[in-house]
Amino acid sequence: MYTADVSRYTHDIYRRCGMSGILLPKLSLGFWHNFGAIDSYERSRQIAHYAFDHGIIHFDLANNYGPSYGSAEETMGRLMDDSFRPYRDELFIATKAGYDMWPGPYGNWGSRKHLMASLEQSLQRMHLDHVDLFYSHRFDPNTPMEETLQAMVDIVKQGKARYLGISRWPLKAFEFANQYLSQRDVPLLIYQGRLNMLNKEVIDNGILDYCKHKNIGFIGFSPLAQGLLTDRYLHGNIPTDSRMAKEKFLKHDALTPELLHQLHEWNKEATENGLSLAERALDWVLEQEGVTSVIVGASSVEQLEKNMKAAYNRQNKN
Ligand SMILES: NC(=O)c1ccc[n+]([C@@H]2O[C@H](COP(=O)([O-])OP(=O)(O)OC[C@H]3O[C@@H](n4cnc5c(N)ncnc54)[C@H](OP(=O)(O)O)[C@@H]3O)[C@@H](O)[C@H]2O)c1
Repeated sequence: MYTADVSRYTHDIYRRCGMSGILLPKLSLGFWHNFGAIDSYERSRQIAHYAFDHGIIHFDLANNYGPSYGSAEETMGRLMDDSFRPYRDELFIATKAGYDMWPGPYGNWGSRKHLMASLEQSLQRMHLDHVDLFYSHRFDPNTPMEETLQAMVDIVKQGKARYLGISRWPLKAFEFANQYLSQRDVPLLIYQGRLNMLNKEVIDNGILDYCKHKNIGFIGFSPLAQGLLTDRYLHGNIPTDSRMAKEKFLKHDALTPELLHQLHEWNKEATENGLSLAERALDWVLEQEGVTSVIVGASSVEQLEKNMKAAYNRQNKN
């Protein structure tokens, strides 16, 4: 039987999400990898317990995280039953719909049919009656934005999600979404986009500025560039238990001599300041004005423990 650490809220690691009533931890835990049916449940459980015991109360999921699709949410359901049910109202659980989930034309993208059915399935897998945050996972150029957004409004009005988020939509569509939702009294809580020292797209395309300007939260995903911005690949070889060894989402050819050179430079700078490359990379994202939180992945408790130093050691400035 799991009992959460009584000192889990000792450290002030929380930032307000835009102008909302919600505080999020500077580090949030992502379930994209390491929580699927192919992973050891015991290890997933240890990582989730460690996170919660240290005040990381935001878990980020999506319908298709696994593999197999849906299995990360099933792991979340098991965690609810085994550990977290007594703590449900301390947790901020997010899921998403929009990427490939089941066969046929209703299994992905942004139709009302897909979003509503997908969230029903997510709730069943996670053994929850609502999520705290429901995202449109990607922009659908072929479905009217009004259809996607109205389905999201109705999901909140039905009590199946407390807040709404947008992930990976282009700026113009994101602006439209923000206006549409605020006119319907369901203000947008947060935008989720990729942000790390190697990928500054949301800075260059104005998304982060828009969030700041409109007081919408921003949460960055892949802050360690899937492990590139750690000591995982610094020596130029590919550890057999690493994400790159799986050759699916992080390919061998990402590790170019130019990139390795850059990683060594950053690692040197980090070391001179008493930091690891991973800590420096997380600090860098958390230093960007307008960033509420970063979603990290971890394949072990040790990785999460190391990464948490960034959230714990920094002053809460943003
Ligand atoms: N909205 C979207 O479309 C979207 C897209 C992608 C991700 N996300 C969200 O963002 C979350 C995080 O993404 P991510 O997993 O790519 O994040 P990440 O933090 O950039 O990468 C995590 C991976 O880096 C390695 N790692 C982490 N800490 C390490 C350390 N201290 N030392 C060495 N290696 C370390 C581990 O890989 P190894 O397996 O090599 O150990 C770990 O699984 C996802 O789980 C998901 O919730 C959202």
